[in-house]
Amino acid sequence: LPASEGMAAMSLTGSQDFISATELLIASSVFCLIFMVIRSYRRQLPKGLKRPPGPWGYPLIGSVLELGKNPHLSMTRMSQKYGDVMQIRIGTRPVLVLSGLETIKQALVKQGENFRGRPDLYSFRIVADGESMAFSPDSGEVWRARRKLAQNAVKAFSVSPSSTSSSICLLEEHVSKEANCLVMKFQQLMEEKKSFDPYRYIVVSVANVICAMCFGKRYGHDDEELVSIVNMSDDFQEIAASGNPADFIPILQYLPSQGMKKFKDFNTKFLSFLQKIVKEHYQSFDKDSIRDITDSLIEQSQEKKFAVKGSIQLPNNKIVNLVNDIFGAGFDTVTTALSWCLMYLVTNPEIQKKIQEEIDQTIGRERNPRLSDRPMLPYTEDLCVFVNQWQVNHDKKLWKDPSTFSPERFLTAGGTEINKAESEKVLVFGLGKRRCIGESIARWEVFLFLTTLLHRLEFSVRDGKKVDMTPIYGLTMKHKRCEHFQIKVRFHLKSSE
Ligand code: HEM
Repeated sequence: LPASEGMAAMSLTGSQDFISATELLIASSVFCLIFMVIRSYRRQLPKGLKRPPGPWGYPLIGSVLELGKNPHLSMTRMSQKYGDVMQIRIGTRPVLVLSGLETIKQALVKQGENFRGRPDLYSFRIVADGESMAFSPDSGEVWRARRKLAQNAVKAFSVSPSSTSSSICLLEEHVSKEANCLVMKFQQLMEEKKSFDPYRYIVVSVANVICAMCFGKRYGHDDEELVSIVNMSDDFQEIAASGNPADFIPILQYLPSQGMKKFKDFNTKFLSFLQKIVKEHYQSFDKDSIRDITDSLIEQSQEKKFAVKGSIQLPNNKIVNLVNDIFGAGFDTVTTALSWCLMYLVTNPEIQKKIQEEIDQTIGRERNPRLSDRPMLPYTEDLCVFVNQWQVNHDKKLWKDPSTFSPERFLTAGGTEINKAESEKVLVFGLGKRRCIGESIARWEVFLFLTTLLHRLEFSVRDGKKVDMTPIYGLTMKHKRCEHFQIKVRFHLKSSE
Protein backbone atom coordinates (compact mmCIF):
# COMPACT_ATOMS: atom_id res chain seq x y z
CA LEU A 1 0.00 0.00 0.00
CA PRO A 2 2.56 2.70 0.88
CA ALA A 3 4.29 2.13 -2.46
CA SER A 4 1.13 2.56 -4.50
CA GLU A 5 0.09 5.57 -2.45
CA GLY A 6 3.46 7.12 -3.27
CA MET A 7 2.89 6.47 -6.95
CA ALA A 8 -0.59 7.97 -6.84
CA ALA A 9 0.81 11.29 -5.77
CA MET A 10 3.01 11.47 -8.85
CA SER A 11 1.54 11.53 -12.35
CA LEU A 12 3.51 10.37 -15.40
CA THR A 13 3.92 13.84 -16.84
CA GLY A 14 3.07 15.95 -13.92
CA SER A 15 -0.12 17.10 -15.66
CA GLN A 16 -3.70 16.16 -14.62
CA ASP A 17 -4.68 15.64 -18.29
CA PHE A 18 -2.59 12.52 -18.76
CA ILE A 19 -2.99 9.04 -17.33
CA SER A 20 -1.62 8.85 -13.81
CA ALA A 21 0.84 6.14 -12.78
CA THR A 22 -1.84 4.68 -10.52
CA GLU A 23 -4.31 4.38 -13.38
CA LEU A 24 -1.68 2.73 -15.53
CA LEU A 25 -0.85 0.31 -12.75
CA ILE A 26 -4.50 -0.55 -12.20
CA ALA A 27 -5.11 -1.00 -15.93
CA SER A 28 -2.15 -3.33 -16.36
CA SER A 29 -3.07 -5.32 -13.23
CA VAL A 30 -6.63 -5.75 -14.49
CA PHE A 31 -5.27 -6.84 -17.86
CA CYS A 32 -2.96 -9.40 -16.23
CA LEU A 33 -5.77 -10.68 -14.04
CA ILE A 34 -8.13 -11.14 -16.98
CA PHE A 35 -5.36 -12.86 -18.93
CA MET A 36 -4.61 -15.27 -16.07
CA VAL A 37 -8.29 -16.00 -15.48
CA ILE A 38 -8.87 -16.78 -19.16
CA ARG A 39 -5.73 -18.92 -19.26
CA SER A 40 -6.67 -20.83 -16.15
CA TYR A 41 -10.13 -21.57 -17.55
CA ARG A 42 -8.74 -22.65 -20.87
CA ARG A 43 -6.28 -25.33 -19.75
CA GLN A 44 -5.67 -27.19 -22.94
CA LEU A 45 -6.91 -30.73 -22.99
CA PRO A 46 -5.71 -33.18 -25.62
CA LYS A 47 -8.24 -33.51 -28.42
CA GLY A 48 -11.05 -35.94 -27.77
CA LEU A 49 -10.64 -35.83 -23.98
CA LYS A 50 -13.20 -34.28 -21.66
CA ARG A 51 -12.43 -32.44 -18.44
CA PRO A 52 -13.60 -34.58 -15.51
CA PRO A 53 -16.66 -33.12 -13.79
CA GLY A 54 -16.16 -30.78 -10.88
CA PRO A 55 -16.87 -27.31 -9.57
CA TRP A 56 -15.45 -24.34 -11.48
CA GLY A 57 -14.60 -22.38 -8.38
CA TYR A 58 -13.74 -18.68 -8.32
CA PRO A 59 -11.31 -16.98 -10.68
CA LEU A 60 -7.71 -17.09 -9.44
CA ILE A 61 -8.43 -18.89 -6.19
CA GLY A 62 -10.48 -21.80 -7.54
CA SER A 63 -12.15 -23.84 -4.79
CA VAL A 64 -9.89 -22.73 -1.95
CA LEU A 65 -12.74 -21.20 0.05
CA GLU A 66 -14.96 -24.19 -0.49
CA LEU A 67 -12.23 -26.57 0.70
CA GLY A 68 -11.91 -24.53 3.88
CA LYS A 69 -10.36 -25.90 7.04
CA ASN A 70 -11.65 -29.44 6.51
CA PRO A 71 -10.82 -30.39 2.92
CA HIS A 72 -11.47 -34.09 3.63
CA LEU A 73 -15.12 -33.28 4.41
CA SER A 74 -15.57 -30.76 1.60
CA MET A 75 -14.06 -33.13 -0.96
CA THR A 76 -16.27 -35.96 0.27
CA ARG A 77 -19.31 -33.70 -0.17
CA MET A 78 -18.17 -32.59 -3.63
CA SER A 79 -17.48 -36.17 -4.73
CA GLN A 80 -21.04 -37.12 -3.83
CA LYS A 81 -22.15 -34.52 -6.37
CA TYR A 82 -19.51 -34.96 -9.09
CA GLY A 83 -18.45 -38.59 -8.76
CA ASP A 84 -15.37 -40.61 -7.85
CA VAL A 85 -13.19 -38.95 -10.50
CA MET A 86 -13.54 -35.22 -10.10
CA GLN A 87 -11.47 -32.20 -11.01
CA ILE A 88 -11.22 -29.14 -8.82
CA ARG A 89 -9.03 -26.08 -9.10
CA ILE A 90 -6.89 -24.85 -6.24
CA GLY A 91 -5.56 -21.45 -7.18
CA THR A 92 -5.16 -21.77 -10.91
CA ARG A 93 -3.95 -25.38 -10.81
CA PRO A 94 -6.22 -28.26 -11.74
CA VAL A 95 -6.25 -31.09 -9.20
CA LEU A 96 -7.74 -34.50 -9.78
CA VAL A 97 -9.53 -35.88 -6.74
CA LEU A 98 -10.08 -39.63 -6.57
CA SER A 99 -12.60 -41.15 -4.20
CA GLY A 100 -14.11 -44.60 -3.79
CA LEU A 101 -12.04 -47.67 -3.03
CA GLU A 102 -12.35 -49.22 -6.49
CA THR A 103 -11.39 -46.00 -8.29
CA ILE A 104 -8.39 -45.49 -6.02
CA LYS A 105 -7.28 -49.10 -6.54
CA GLN A 106 -7.67 -48.70 -10.28
CA ALA A 107 -5.36 -45.68 -10.25
CA LEU A 108 -2.76 -46.57 -7.62
CA VAL A 109 -2.52 -50.31 -8.26
CA LYS A 110 -3.66 -51.13 -11.81
CA GLN A 111 -2.27 -47.93 -13.30
CA GLY A 112 0.41 -47.70 -10.63
CA GLU A 113 3.21 -46.61 -12.97
CA ASN A 114 1.24 -43.50 -13.97
CA PHE A 115 0.39 -42.58 -10.40
CA ARG A 116 3.73 -43.07 -8.66
CA GLY A 117 4.76 -39.41 -8.85
CA ARG A 118 4.62 -36.66 -6.28
CA PRO A 119 3.57 -33.11 -7.12
CA ASP A 120 6.27 -30.44 -7.09
CA LEU A 121 4.93 -28.35 -4.22
CA TYR A 122 6.45 -25.37 -2.43
CA SER A 123 6.05 -26.96 1.03
CA PHE A 124 7.48 -30.32 -0.13
CA ARG A 125 10.62 -28.54 -1.38
CA ILE A 126 11.30 -27.34 2.15
CA VAL A 127 11.29 -30.86 3.63
CA ALA A 128 14.88 -32.07 4.14
CA ASP A 129 16.08 -29.16 1.98
CA GLY A 130 14.31 -30.73 -1.01
CA GLU A 131 16.22 -34.02 -0.62
CA SER A 132 13.42 -36.14 0.86
CA MET A 133 12.68 -39.44 -0.88
CA ALA A 134 9.06 -39.37 0.27
CA PHE A 135 8.27 -35.73 -0.59
CA SER A 136 10.49 -34.71 -3.50
CA PRO A 137 8.98 -34.82 -7.00
CA ASP A 138 11.55 -37.41 -8.14
CA SER A 139 9.87 -40.70 -8.97
CA GLY A 140 12.37 -42.11 -11.43
CA GLU A 141 15.25 -44.54 -11.03
CA VAL A 142 16.88 -42.56 -8.21
CA TRP A 143 13.66 -42.64 -6.14
CA ARG A 144 13.24 -46.36 -6.88
CA ALA A 145 16.79 -47.16 -5.71
CA ARG A 146 16.44 -45.00 -2.59
CA ARG A 147 13.10 -46.60 -1.69
CA LYS A 148 14.64 -50.08 -1.99
CA LEU A 149 17.59 -49.05 0.22
CA ALA A 150 15.23 -47.63 2.85
CA GLN A 151 13.07 -50.78 2.77
CA ASN A 152 16.09 -53.07 3.23
CA ALA A 153 17.52 -50.96 6.05
CA VAL A 154 14.18 -50.89 7.90
CA LYS A 155 13.78 -54.64 7.49
CA ALA A 156 17.31 -55.40 8.70
CA PHE A 157 16.80 -53.46 11.94
CA SER A 158 13.24 -54.53 12.77
CA VAL A 159 12.56 -58.17 11.91
CA SER A 160 16.13 -59.41 12.44
CA PRO A 161 16.60 -61.55 15.57
CA SER A 162 17.75 -59.78 18.71
CA SER A 163 21.09 -61.05 19.97
CA THR A 164 20.81 -59.58 23.45
CA SER A 165 17.30 -60.37 24.67
CA SER A 166 14.70 -63.13 24.61
CA SER A 167 12.61 -61.12 22.16
CA ILE A 168 11.81 -62.70 18.83
CA CYS A 169 13.19 -59.71 16.90
CA LEU A 170 14.70 -56.27 17.38
CA LEU A 171 11.34 -54.56 16.94
CA GLU A 172 9.78 -56.62 19.75
CA GLU A 173 12.74 -55.84 22.00
CA HIS A 174 12.46 -52.07 21.43
CA VAL A 175 8.66 -51.87 21.65
CA SER A 176 8.45 -54.07 24.77
CA LYS A 177 11.04 -51.97 26.53
CA GLU A 178 9.35 -48.68 25.62
CA ALA A 179 5.82 -49.90 26.33
CA ASN A 180 6.87 -51.06 29.82
CA CYS A 181 8.53 -47.72 30.50
CA LEU A 182 5.32 -46.04 29.37
CA VAL A 183 3.25 -48.11 31.82
CA MET A 184 5.56 -46.92 34.64
CA LYS A 185 5.44 -43.33 33.40
CA PHE A 186 1.62 -43.32 33.37
CA GLN A 187 1.57 -44.72 36.91
CA GLN A 188 3.96 -42.02 38.08
CA LEU A 189 1.92 -39.27 36.37
CA MET A 190 -1.28 -40.55 37.91
CA GLU A 191 0.24 -40.46 41.39
CA GLU A 192 1.73 -37.02 40.94
CA LYS A 193 -0.91 -35.21 38.89
CA LYS A 194 -4.14 -37.25 39.13
CA SER A 195 -4.71 -36.86 35.36
CA PHE A 196 -2.50 -36.28 32.32
CA ASP A 197 -2.24 -35.95 28.52
CA PRO A 198 -0.98 -39.33 27.26
CA TYR A 199 -0.02 -38.04 23.77
CA ARG A 200 3.00 -36.17 25.07
CA TYR A 201 4.47 -39.40 26.45
CA ILE A 202 3.35 -41.84 23.74
CA VAL A 203 5.13 -39.72 21.14
CA VAL A 204 8.45 -39.97 23.00
CA SER A 205 8.08 -43.75 23.46
CA VAL A 206 7.24 -44.30 19.80
CA ALA A 207 10.05 -41.96 18.71
CA ASN A 208 12.40 -44.00 20.92
CA VAL A 209 11.51 -47.16 18.98
CA ILE A 210 12.41 -45.61 15.63
CA CYS A 211 15.44 -43.91 17.27
CA ALA A 212 16.68 -47.29 18.49
CA MET A 213 16.38 -48.68 14.95
CA CYS A 214 17.84 -45.63 13.22
CA PHE A 215 20.51 -44.50 15.68
CA GLY A 216 20.77 -47.09 18.47
CA LYS A 217 19.78 -44.36 20.93
CA ARG A 218 16.98 -43.68 23.39
CA TYR A 219 15.87 -40.47 25.07
CA GLY A 220 14.23 -39.78 28.40
CA HIS A 221 10.69 -38.32 28.57
CA ASP A 222 12.31 -35.12 29.82
CA ASP A 223 14.97 -34.81 27.12
CA GLU A 224 14.41 -31.23 26.00
CA GLU A 225 15.71 -31.57 22.45
CA LEU A 226 13.72 -34.68 21.51
CA VAL A 227 10.57 -33.65 23.39
CA SER A 228 10.52 -30.26 21.68
CA ILE A 229 11.02 -31.77 18.22
CA VAL A 230 8.44 -34.54 18.48
CA ASN A 231 5.91 -32.19 20.02
CA MET A 232 6.40 -29.70 17.20
CA SER A 233 5.34 -32.20 14.57
CA ASP A 234 1.83 -30.69 14.42
CA ASP A 235 3.52 -27.68 12.80
CA PHE A 236 4.61 -30.04 10.02
CA GLN A 237 1.36 -31.92 9.56
CA GLU A 238 -0.72 -28.79 9.10
CA ILE A 239 1.32 -27.36 6.22
CA ALA A 240 2.29 -30.63 4.49
CA ALA A 241 -1.38 -31.66 4.27
CA SER A 242 -2.99 -31.91 0.84
CA GLY A 243 -4.46 -28.70 -0.48
CA ASN A 244 -2.37 -26.16 1.45
CA PRO A 245 -3.27 -22.92 -0.41
CA ALA A 246 0.37 -21.66 -0.45
CA ASP A 247 1.29 -24.68 -2.59
CA PHE A 248 -1.16 -23.62 -5.26
CA ILE A 249 -1.32 -19.82 -5.08
CA PRO A 250 2.33 -18.70 -5.36
CA ILE A 251 1.74 -15.17 -4.11
CA LEU A 252 0.84 -16.61 -0.69
CA GLN A 253 4.42 -17.83 -0.36
CA TYR A 254 5.55 -14.24 -0.04
CA LEU A 255 2.97 -13.15 2.51
CA PRO A 256 3.82 -13.55 6.19
CA SER A 257 2.31 -16.74 7.56
CA GLN A 258 2.65 -18.01 11.10
CA GLY A 259 1.95 -21.58 9.96
CA MET A 260 4.62 -21.51 7.25
CA LYS A 261 7.16 -19.99 9.63
CA LYS A 262 6.55 -22.78 12.14
CA PHE A 263 6.80 -25.35 9.33
CA LYS A 264 10.18 -23.98 8.22
CA ASP A 265 11.43 -23.81 11.81
CA PHE A 266 10.39 -27.41 12.37
CA ASN A 267 12.19 -28.59 9.23
CA THR A 268 15.38 -26.72 10.12
CA LYS A 269 15.36 -28.03 13.68
CA PHE A 270 14.57 -31.58 12.59
CA LEU A 271 17.28 -31.63 9.94
CA SER A 272 19.98 -30.25 12.22
CA PHE A 273 19.00 -32.72 14.98
CA LEU A 274 19.45 -35.61 12.53
CA GLN A 275 22.58 -34.21 10.89
CA LYS A 276 24.30 -34.02 14.26
CA ILE A 277 23.58 -37.70 14.92
CA VAL A 278 24.61 -38.74 11.40
CA LYS A 279 27.90 -36.84 11.84
CA GLU A 280 28.60 -38.71 15.09
CA HIS A 281 27.91 -41.96 13.26
CA TYR A 282 30.39 -41.10 10.52
CA GLN A 283 33.02 -40.38 13.20
CA SER A 284 32.56 -43.69 15.02
CA PHE A 285 31.72 -45.78 11.94
CA ASP A 286 33.23 -49.27 11.81
CA LYS A 287 32.31 -51.36 8.80
CA ASP A 288 32.73 -54.57 10.82
CA SER A 289 30.15 -53.50 13.36
CA ILE A 290 27.01 -52.08 11.75
CA ARG A 291 24.99 -50.82 14.70
CA ASP A 292 21.81 -49.40 13.19
CA ILE A 293 20.02 -48.07 10.09
CA THR A 294 22.30 -45.02 9.86
CA ASP A 295 25.43 -47.21 9.90
CA SER A 296 23.90 -49.48 7.31
CA LEU A 297 23.12 -46.52 5.02
CA ILE A 298 26.66 -45.13 5.50
CA GLU A 299 28.03 -48.56 4.58
CA GLN A 300 25.90 -48.73 1.45
CA SER A 301 26.96 -45.24 0.42
CA GLN A 302 30.62 -46.21 0.81
CA GLU A 303 30.32 -49.47 -1.06
CA LYS A 304 29.20 -47.56 -4.13
CA LYS A 305 27.38 -50.64 -5.29
CA PHE A 306 24.13 -48.80 -5.69
CA ALA A 307 24.72 -47.52 -9.14
CA VAL A 308 21.28 -47.06 -10.61
CA LYS A 309 20.31 -48.44 -14.00
CA GLY A 310 21.93 -46.38 -16.75
CA SER A 311 24.91 -46.06 -14.32
CA ILE A 312 23.69 -43.03 -12.33
CA GLN A 313 25.51 -43.18 -9.02
CA LEU A 314 23.46 -42.21 -5.98
CA PRO A 315 25.23 -39.35 -4.18
CA ASN A 316 26.19 -40.23 -0.59
CA ASN A 317 23.92 -37.63 0.92
CA LYS A 318 20.96 -39.07 -0.98
CA ILE A 319 21.58 -42.36 0.79
CA VAL A 320 22.30 -41.15 4.33
CA ASN A 321 19.51 -38.61 4.05
CA LEU A 322 17.02 -41.49 3.93
CA VAL A 323 17.27 -41.63 7.68
CA ASN A 324 15.23 -38.37 7.72
CA ASP A 325 12.44 -40.03 5.80
CA ILE A 326 12.43 -43.16 7.93
CA PHE A 327 12.59 -41.31 11.23
CA GLY A 328 10.12 -38.62 10.13
CA ALA A 329 7.58 -41.10 8.80
CA GLY A 330 8.06 -43.52 11.66
CA PHE A 331 7.08 -41.62 14.79
CA ASP A 332 4.18 -39.28 14.13
CA THR A 333 2.07 -41.83 12.25
CA VAL A 334 2.31 -44.61 14.83
CA THR A 335 1.81 -42.13 17.70
CA THR A 336 -1.36 -40.81 16.05
CA ALA A 337 -2.72 -44.33 15.52
CA LEU A 338 -2.05 -45.33 19.12
CA SER A 339 -3.41 -42.14 20.54
CA TRP A 340 -6.67 -42.50 18.58
CA CYS A 341 -6.97 -46.04 19.95
CA LEU A 342 -6.83 -44.71 23.51
CA MET A 343 -9.33 -41.97 22.69
CA TYR A 344 -11.77 -44.55 21.33
CA LEU A 345 -11.22 -46.83 24.29
CA VAL A 346 -11.94 -44.23 26.96
CA THR A 347 -15.13 -43.28 25.14
CA ASN A 348 -16.09 -46.96 24.74
CA PRO A 349 -15.16 -48.54 28.10
CA GLU A 350 -17.08 -51.74 27.32
CA ILE A 351 -14.80 -52.33 24.32
CA GLN A 352 -11.73 -51.69 26.45
CA LYS A 353 -13.00 -54.32 28.90
CA LYS A 354 -13.57 -56.83 26.13
CA ILE A 355 -10.02 -56.37 24.84
CA GLN A 356 -8.62 -56.74 28.34
CA GLU A 357 -10.58 -59.95 28.86
CA GLU A 358 -9.20 -61.30 25.61
CA ILE A 359 -5.66 -60.37 26.66
CA ASP A 360 -6.10 -61.91 30.12
CA GLN A 361 -7.37 -65.17 28.67
CA THR A 362 -4.57 -65.48 26.14
CA ILE A 363 -1.59 -64.02 27.97
CA GLY A 364 -2.53 -64.29 31.63
CA ARG A 365 -0.89 -62.11 34.22
CA GLU A 366 2.50 -63.75 34.57
CA ARG A 367 4.20 -62.32 31.52
CA ASN A 368 4.23 -59.43 29.07
CA PRO A 369 2.53 -59.56 25.65
CA ARG A 370 4.68 -60.61 22.71
CA LEU A 371 4.36 -60.18 18.97
CA SER A 372 3.64 -63.90 18.62
CA ASP A 373 0.39 -63.37 20.59
CA ARG A 374 -1.04 -61.34 17.73
CA PRO A 375 -2.86 -64.15 15.87
CA MET A 376 -4.55 -65.19 19.12
CA LEU A 377 -5.90 -61.70 19.81
CA PRO A 378 -8.15 -60.93 16.84
CA TYR A 379 -10.32 -58.46 18.75
CA THR A 380 -7.37 -56.35 19.88
CA GLU A 381 -5.69 -56.52 16.50
CA ASP A 382 -8.55 -54.64 14.80
CA LEU A 383 -7.90 -51.65 16.62
CA CYS A 384 -4.83 -50.49 14.85
CA VAL A 385 -6.74 -49.11 11.87
CA PHE A 386 -9.23 -46.28 11.44
CA VAL A 387 -7.15 -43.17 11.12
CA ASN A 388 -6.85 -42.01 7.61
CA GLN A 389 -7.98 -41.68 4.02
CA TRP A 390 -11.20 -40.34 5.24
CA GLN A 391 -13.57 -40.73 2.37
CA VAL A 392 -13.03 -44.44 1.75
CA ASN A 393 -12.98 -45.19 5.44
CA HIS A 394 -16.29 -43.37 5.94
CA ASP A 395 -18.03 -44.42 2.74
CA LYS A 396 -21.61 -45.45 3.46
CA LYS A 397 -21.48 -47.73 0.42
CA LEU A 398 -18.66 -49.72 2.02
CA TRP A 399 -19.49 -49.57 5.71
CA LYS A 400 -22.55 -49.85 7.90
CA ASP A 401 -22.58 -46.84 10.26
CA PRO A 402 -19.09 -45.73 9.19
CA SER A 403 -18.65 -43.33 12.10
CA THR A 404 -19.34 -45.87 14.82
CA PHE A 405 -16.35 -47.38 16.59
CA SER A 406 -16.97 -51.08 16.13
CA PRO A 407 -14.03 -53.50 16.08
CA GLU A 408 -16.54 -56.32 15.48
CA ARG A 409 -17.02 -55.15 11.91
CA PHE A 410 -13.58 -56.60 11.10
CA LEU A 411 -14.19 -60.01 12.61
CA THR A 412 -15.71 -63.15 11.15
CA ALA A 413 -19.13 -64.11 12.46
CA GLY A 414 -17.68 -66.29 15.25
CA GLY A 415 -15.45 -63.44 16.38
CA THR A 416 -12.37 -65.64 16.42
CA GLU A 417 -10.63 -64.42 13.28
CA ILE A 418 -10.04 -61.30 11.26
CA ASN A 419 -12.34 -60.92 8.28
CA LYS A 420 -9.71 -60.32 5.61
CA ALA A 421 -12.05 -58.96 2.95
CA GLU A 422 -13.45 -56.35 5.34
CA SER A 423 -10.15 -55.28 6.87
CA GLU A 424 -8.52 -54.85 3.48
CA LYS A 425 -11.13 -52.23 2.58
CA VAL A 426 -9.66 -49.79 5.10
CA LEU A 427 -7.16 -47.46 3.49
CA VAL A 428 -4.46 -46.56 5.94
CA PHE A 429 -1.08 -47.12 4.33
CA GLY A 430 -1.79 -46.02 0.77
CA LEU A 431 -1.68 -48.35 -2.21
CA GLY A 432 0.47 -49.12 -5.19
CA LYS A 433 4.01 -48.00 -5.89
CA ARG A 434 4.12 -45.45 -3.08
CA ARG A 435 2.56 -47.70 -0.49
CA CYS A 436 4.03 -47.12 2.95
CA ILE A 437 7.29 -49.01 3.52
CA GLY A 438 6.71 -49.17 7.27
CA GLU A 439 3.31 -50.88 7.23
CA SER A 440 4.34 -54.14 8.89
CA ILE A 441 6.41 -52.56 11.59
CA ALA A 442 3.71 -49.97 12.21
CA ARG A 443 1.09 -52.69 12.67
CA TRP A 444 3.37 -54.69 14.97
CA GLU A 445 4.26 -51.59 16.95
CA VAL A 446 0.69 -50.46 17.50
CA PHE A 447 -0.28 -53.99 18.47
CA LEU A 448 2.45 -54.48 21.05
CA PHE A 449 2.26 -51.01 22.57
CA LEU A 450 -1.49 -51.28 22.88
CA THR A 451 -1.61 -54.79 24.35
CA THR A 452 1.12 -53.95 26.85
CA LEU A 453 -0.71 -50.81 27.97
CA LEU A 454 -4.15 -52.41 28.14
CA HIS A 455 -2.81 -55.56 29.78
CA ARG A 456 -1.57 -53.60 32.77
CA LEU A 457 -3.68 -50.44 32.85
CA GLU A 458 -7.31 -49.42 32.60
CA PHE A 459 -7.78 -46.06 30.91
CA SER A 460 -10.53 -43.53 31.59
CA VAL A 461 -11.09 -39.78 31.64
CA ARG A 462 -11.66 -37.69 34.74
CA ASP A 463 -15.30 -37.58 35.89
CA GLY A 464 -17.30 -34.92 34.10
CA LYS A 465 -14.68 -34.38 31.38
CA LYS A 466 -15.43 -35.15 27.75
CA VAL A 467 -12.95 -36.01 25.03
CA ASP A 468 -13.23 -34.24 21.71
CA MET A 469 -13.18 -36.82 18.90
CA THR A 470 -13.35 -34.33 16.01
CA PRO A 471 -10.45 -35.10 13.66
CA ILE A 472 -8.16 -32.16 12.90
CA TYR A 473 -7.19 -32.02 9.24
CA GLY A 474 -3.50 -32.56 8.48
CA LEU A 475 -1.05 -34.92 6.82
CA THR A 476 -1.95 -37.22 9.68
CA MET A 477 -5.38 -36.61 11.15
CA LYS A 478 -5.03 -35.89 14.84
CA HIS A 479 -7.44 -35.33 17.70
CA LYS A 480 -7.35 -32.45 20.13
CA ARG A 481 -5.01 -33.21 23.00
CA CYS A 482 -6.76 -34.27 26.18
CA GLU A 483 -5.13 -33.82 29.56
CA HIS A 484 -7.81 -35.55 31.59
CA PHE A 485 -6.70 -39.15 31.08
CA GLN A 486 -6.52 -41.34 34.15
CA ILE A 487 -5.30 -44.88 34.69
CA LYS A 488 -5.96 -47.65 37.18
CA VAL A 489 -3.32 -50.34 37.57
CA ARG A 490 -4.99 -53.70 36.76
CA PHE A 491 -2.28 -55.81 38.40
CA HIS A 492 1.43 -55.77 39.14
CA LEU A 493 3.51 -58.12 37.02
CA LYS A 494 5.29 -60.54 39.35
CA SER A 495 8.19 -61.39 37.10
CA SER A 496 9.59 -58.51 35.12
CA GLU A 497 10.67 -60.24 31.92
C1 HEM B 1 0.31 -46.21 11.52
C2 HEM B 1 1.44 -45.85 10.97
C3 HEM B 1 1.65 -45.42 9.54
C4 HEM B 1 0.73 -44.96 8.63
C5 HEM B 1 -0.77 -44.74 8.83
C6 HEM B 1 1.45 -44.69 7.40
C7 HEM B 1 0.86 -44.24 6.22
C8 HEM B 1 1.54 -43.93 5.07
C9 HEM B 1 0.94 -43.41 3.85
C10 HEM B 1 -0.57 -43.17 3.66
C11 HEM B 1 1.92 -43.19 2.95
C12 HEM B 1 1.80 -42.56 1.56
C13 HEM B 1 1.39 -43.52 0.51
C14 HEM B 1 1.22 -42.81 -0.83
O1 HEM B 1 1.89 -41.81 -1.10
O2 HEM B 1 0.40 -43.29 -1.62
C15 HEM B 1 3.18 -43.56 3.59
C16 HEM B 1 4.42 -43.45 2.99
C17 HEM B 1 5.62 -43.75 3.63
N1 HEM B 1 5.78 -44.32 4.89
FE1 HEM B 1 4.28 -44.74 6.20
N2 HEM B 1 2.77 -44.96 7.59
C18 HEM B 1 2.94 -45.42 8.88
C19 HEM B 1 4.13 -45.83 9.49
C20 HEM B 1 5.38 -45.76 8.89
C21 HEM B 1 6.63 -46.19 9.52
C22 HEM B 1 6.76 -46.81 10.93
C23 HEM B 1 7.64 -45.92 8.62
C24 HEM B 1 9.14 -46.13 8.75
C25 HEM B 1 9.71 -47.17 9.03
C26 HEM B 1 7.02 -45.36 7.42
C27 HEM B 1 7.71 -44.97 6.29
C28 HEM B 1 7.13 -44.44 5.13
C29 HEM B 1 7.89 -43.93 3.99
C30 HEM B 1 9.42 -43.85 3.86
C31 HEM B 1 6.95 -43.49 3.04
C32 HEM B 1 7.22 -42.85 1.67
C33 HEM B 1 7.25 -43.88 0.57
C34 HEM B 1 7.48 -43.26 -0.82
O3 HEM B 1 7.29 -42.06 -0.98
O4 HEM B 1 7.88 -44.01 -1.73
N3 HEM B 1 5.66 -45.28 7.62
N4 HEM B 1 2.92 -44.02 4.88
